[in-house]
Amino acid sequence: MDDDRPRLIEVAFPLKQASLDSVHEKNVRHGHISTLHIWPARRPLAACRAALIATLLPDPGNDAERQRLLERLAGKVVTKNVTKRVGGRDISSLKEETLGGILHWGRENGPDLDFFREEIKKAYGGRAPRVLDPFAGGGAIPLEAMRLGCEATAIDINPVAWFILKCTLEYPQRLAGQKRPLPRSALESPEFMAAFQKQALPKGKACKASAVQGNMLEAPEADLAWHVRAWGHWVLERARADLQRFYPTVDGKPTVAYLWARTVTCKNCRATLPLLKTLWLCRKEKKRFRLKLVPRDDRSGVDFQVVEEPKVGGNAAQQREHDRRVGQGTRSRSGAWCPVCGGPNTVAMTLDDIRAEGLAGRLGAQMTVVVVDGPKGKEYRLPTPEELRAAEEAVDQVEAVFKDVPFGLPTEPLPTKEALGFRVPLYGFDQWYKLFTPRQLVALGTFVKHTRAARDAMRAEGYPPEWMEPAAAYLTANLSKAVHLACTLCTWHVGNEQIRQVFSRYALPITWDFAESVPPGQYAGSYLSMLESTIAAVHTSLRAASTGSIAPSARCQSALLPNATEKLDVVVTDPPYYDAIPYSDAMDFFYIWLRRSLAGVSPEMDSAFSETLGPKWDHQRQDGELIDDASRFSGDAEESRAAYEGGMFRAFRVCQELLTPQGVLVVVFANKQPNAWETLVSSIIRAGFVVDGSWPIQTELSSRTRALTSAALASSVWLVCRKRPEAARPGWDTEVLEEMRARIYDRLRDFWDAGIRGPDFVWAATGPALEAYSKHPIVKKADEPNAVLTVSEFLHHVRRIVVDYVVGRVLSRDGESEEAASLDSPTIYYLLHRHDFGFTEAPVGACILYAQSCGLRDRDLADRHDLVAFASGKAADEDEDEAEDEAAEEEPEERGSGSKVRLKRWDQRRGKSLGLDAASQPAPLIDQVHRIMRLWREGDVRKVDDYIEERGLRRNPLFPRLLQALIELARKDNQPEETALLETIMNHTTARGAHPQMRLGLESSQEGGE
Ligand SMILES: C[S@@+](CC[C@H](N)C(=O)[O-])C[C@H]1O[C@@H](n2cnc3c(N)ncnc32)[C@H](O)[C@@H]1O
Repeated sequence: MDDDRPRLIEVAFPLKQASLDSVHEKNVRHGHISTLHIWPARRPLAACRAALIATLLPDPGNDAERQRLLERLAGKVVTKNVTKRVGGRDISSLKEETLGGILHWGRENGPDLDFFREEIKKAYGGRAPRVLDPFAGGGAIPLEAMRLGCEATAIDINPVAWFILKCTLEYPQRLAGQKRPLPRSALESPEFMAAFQKQALPKGKACKASAVQGNMLEAPEADLAWHVRAWGHWVLERARADLQRFYPTVDGKPTVAYLWARTVTCKNCRATLPLLKTLWLCRKEKKRFRLKLVPRDDRSGVDFQVVEEPKVGGNAAQQREHDRRVGQGTRSRSGAWCPVCGGPNTVAMTLDDIRAEGLAGRLGAQMTVVVVDGPKGKEYRLPTPEELRAAEEAVDQVEAVFKDVPFGLPTEPLPTKEALGFRVPLYGFDQWYKLFTPRQLVALGTFVKHTRAARDAMRAEGYPPEWMEPAAAYLTANLSKAVHLACTLCTWHVGNEQIRQVFSRYALPITWDFAESVPPGQYAGSYLSMLESTIAAVHTSLRAASTGSIAPSARCQSALLPNATEKLDVVVTDPPYYDAIPYSDAMDFFYIWLRRSLAGVSPEMDSAFSETLGPKWDHQRQDGELIDDASRFSGDAEESRAAYEGGMFRAFRVCQELLTPQGVLVVVFANKQPNAWETLVSSIIRAGFVVDGSWPIQTELSSRTRALTSAALASSVWLVCRKRPEAARPGWDTEVLEEMRARIYDRLRDFWDAGIRGPDFVWAATGPALEAYSKHPIVKKADEPNAVLTVSEFLHHVRRIVVDYVVGRVLSRDGESEEAASLDSPTIYYLLHRHDFGFTEAPVGACILYAQSCGLRDRDLADRHDLVAFASGKAADEDEDEAEDEAAEEEPEERGSGSKVRLKRWDQRRGKSLGLDAASQPAPLIDQVHRIMRLWREGDVRKVDDYIEERGLRRNPLFPRLLQALIELARKDNQPEETALLETIMNHTTARGAHPQMRLGLESSQEGGE
């Protein structure tokens, strides 16, 4: 777009629909691009599609057309009654979902998408707009840009991400709509051909018999996804032949997994001590098995037994306690107890002892159980001597297998113990290969060997390079996914009897017991089990690229390096956020295997993977991965933060230089920590942008919040920015604040009318408010020479206006009231929190935001004001899972996340001085009301009256307003006792004569009036 018309995203956005469809998409497994390869922090395609369309299209300029456009984009929100069976009971609830639009998974392609592609092209004078994502990661944003007919460029510094980008964007676009004859191996496989015939050929069109017999001249043609399937089976067949002897099948029951315990020598009795976090093997309603430890007679260690554990009677808490006791492994918080010389309440080896043994290379491993697939499901039994031998035999094969693999055994160093999220180095795991058992190494090395060999076989069958490279890449992606379930950091999920992948969050904590998958087998974690999802993801990417898209470009480079020949129309990006995820360190887990499997695929690939590990920080060039990780700066936290923030500024500056004068930048930020957020916003403004919009899109699903679609769950804010004209002049704080105030109320009304509530309301107002501030390169303070108004200071004013507006709505039942502005901060906070979350657990981020908006410190909410209690955020049922969750072992909770905040009920606020003035501070009004409630319940009406009189509450117009608002909130929260108490107090004070004007206001705000 070469004019200055506002874009749709600068005026309106289908927030609720984008959130609903984003959350829904998180549940989609089959065919989602995220199933092609692991990459952290992927944004939902629905959110990216909505943001891109709204950024690329102009706002129609009138309500009716805008509404039509939004509905065509995102559909309508409808409510459905859904019934779920929980614990044997049917539970009904109302569920909101979208109807129509192109955001919902499965509705993305079709005539409406064509309409948007056309409109976008029209908006750019008939050409494809140029869109860049300089932090492209797994490629959600550029994939959607490609789908919308844009010229998409995706940049990521990490070669693993770049590899995924090639697989998601470039290869599918290059080969979309193309076919070539199936390979010989596929033709020779009756199962393959039967599937092909059923799924790929039009009904009634059978392959010629000669094709099925392997005559290449007659071979049917198939698209890229079918070729990947064919070669995937080719690799698997050969790997199976090589690996069979390491995975014996006993009694005709195929092996699902081997369970192991790491071991250490007990320093008291020298027995081999198995380190087991839990003894449970399977804990389901009707299937309960656990390990029993039996000390050997010679006291050299323990033998294992598998025992069935009947369910005991009692209530849920008693059952849980019983299960905890019988399932307690040898691990305790402070170390491990020895089943030979001690008991569960003793400590034989402290954590330091175990770490010291690990660092000395003396941690061992002992197979405990084999899980097999029997006629009635999974069975648990002890390993046979043959199985123990098979695992042993792999030890001697490791070297031989890696002789033929480029770069040999993965001896690359692991990050140090200081790196974010890495706990394994504390136990002596300092090279990547050490995270695998010898058998896992043999299996993975064998798959690498055959994946590489497939290329030669393809060449021999006449595949052109433009087919060979993608096919080899997808086979490697499949292998890489199998690695994710084939390392000693994978554990056994006793609830659903399945192996868990390494990265449930992006950290590498130590595991005590672990599960070993069977890569050549057929169950979870096997190469085969990955293949279907790989193929489905290839299909999806082919479909996204199938509508005549323009070739996208994936580049493995730093976002700090400008490298474009043509100006960009739009930059939409989701940059790394401080210390949230250690991308490069964590993804080295895959890097080492990709590097081996892809070596020689193309010069470009070789160059991307030329370094031993993924890029970290280059101190000399001051460039590299942007992450706030002090371990990259010799532990200097300040330097690390400065490098991250400085890097982000430079990256925004590059975007500013690359954009056309009318260009738009959209940046996605986590909204967890307002302070950190504000620093990044300052960088954007400093880099030459005016911020004029912000939309909080919910992208995460949480099952334990008041309403699934509650705005409070928003997990990212999409910030809309324009280039600031070079001629922009510094501004003055008084004028800037005045301008902001003059404009903000209209926007607040729009957002409120659009149904935006909760913290989302604050976030949605932030962007438009920032326009008045950011249109100046700096804003000076009129009454302080040389001082500037910071973003934080400015936002402080904005947020206060916003929360006063919300509380005004709460106080006056959705009409507007200006009285909130004269309420004290703790009362404002209480009303906001109560209105949005009631007494359910609230996310800490939202509470910090509210606290800051009210000018309070979040910690003071609990410590000083006694309004809230901080909780770990774990529900009772979660504790059980946690008992199985190895990742939780001695891991600090991810900073700022996980913790929840709960508002205290009036009768939980027990402080003696509640409602009494402190030395320097008058008691907040909410405290006064709660004190009155307490006095009333104690039955002393005289004390109530005295208190009301003393504090002049009868003359305070806010008092009855607050009482009325609390009555309504108590009704909404289903608190009958609180409601009744407040109503009685209200009647009492009204009968005694409140301020006459207030009585009028009060009557008109009561339910239905008289
Ligand atoms: C939040 S992720 C992007 C996720 C992506 N939006 C998705 O949906 O998959 C941020 C990305 O920034 C990349 N990154 C970090 N520093 C970079 C730099 N200097 N240049 C380019 N990319 C960088 C990381 O490798 C990571 O993939």
